[in-house]
Amino acid sequence: MENIKPINNRTKDKFQTYYIIGDPVYHSLSPIMQNTAFRELGLNYNYFAFRVSKEDLKTCIDSFRSLNVSGFNVTIPHKVDIIKYLDYLDESALKAEAVNTVKNVNGNMWGYNTDIYGFMFPLRKRNFNFNQKKVLVIGSGGASRAIIAGLSEEKDNLSKIFIVNRTINNAMDLANFGLKNGLNCEFYHVDSVENFSIISDLIINTTSLGMNNEKSIIDSKYIKKDSLIFDIVYKPVYTNLLLNAKLAKAQIIFGYEMLLYQGAQAFQIWTGLEAPIESMKKSILGIFGEPK
Ligand code: ATR
Repeated sequence: MENIKPINNRTKDKFQTYYIIGDPVYHSLSPIMQNTAFRELGLNYNYFAFRVSKEDLKTCIDSFRSLNVSGFNVTIPHKVDIIKYLDYLDESALKAEAVNTVKNVNGNMWGYNTDIYGFMFPLRKRNFNFNQKKVLVIGSGGASRAIIAGLSEEKDNLSKIFIVNRTINNAMDLANFGLKNGLNCEFYHVDSVENFSIISDLIINTTSLGMNNEKSIIDSKYIKKDSLIFDIVYKPVYTNLLLNAKLAKAQIIFGYEMLLYQGAQAFQIWTGLEAPIESMKKSILGIFGEPK
């Protein structure tokens, strides 16, 4: 036994564990995406999904501290509640008032929000010109806060943000959050979505509508040609809203891109290494890649 040798580089790395906590969490693609990235770079790290109810959040974080876990992602419904259990907040988390990524730094839990980057990077990659553009945000839940925080990076360029939602009070809260961040926001009931889609240059669906193949919330004739439609629903890859966008000859951004880039930035925060984007993308889309 004294002569035992490491069989590969991985055995020389310190073992680390990462988690995603949420409820529900069974559908999450983060474990396959992050474990693929760890393997690709030869890191001896593992990433697991844990279902944690609202009542169990404090106990979960206390356990993570005692076990000295290296980091974790946070999803529905904990992105805001988690803040009170953390030690420091990065600028991104302060801006979104929500956290989706936590790093354990010498026993201190640091909170970040990588959804902002996950949302903005696909737009930046396409060189989307924000100047004087009108944006329609559908939904006012947890995901929409990071989206509004992201859009506020372009507050001096954007002309107007229309927020539509089923529950008007939630739309109002989100509009106030946008106003606080320097955006010119108006809010309306979701029933009037088509009045605004037809005059918008960028449309973002932040609701879960589409996940169960629901009919598109916007008819193709109410989507402007050459506008850009970003659906954050990633399964199915082609939602009915995106299919209607294609019919209207609009540009589209698939929901998986936000998942991919928020995960890539989380990976970078945890490891200090550049994320292996192509392998991560393949792990969520399969070898056939993005549908045409
Ligand atoms: P997340 O954290 O992923 O954003 P969420 O906080 O549950 O999830 O938010 C879901 C959003 O989708 C909300 O804006 C919700 O509208 P309400 O504020 O009225 O709850 C919206 N939503 C969910 N199901 C919907 C439906 N069937 N029709 C219209 N909007 C819906």
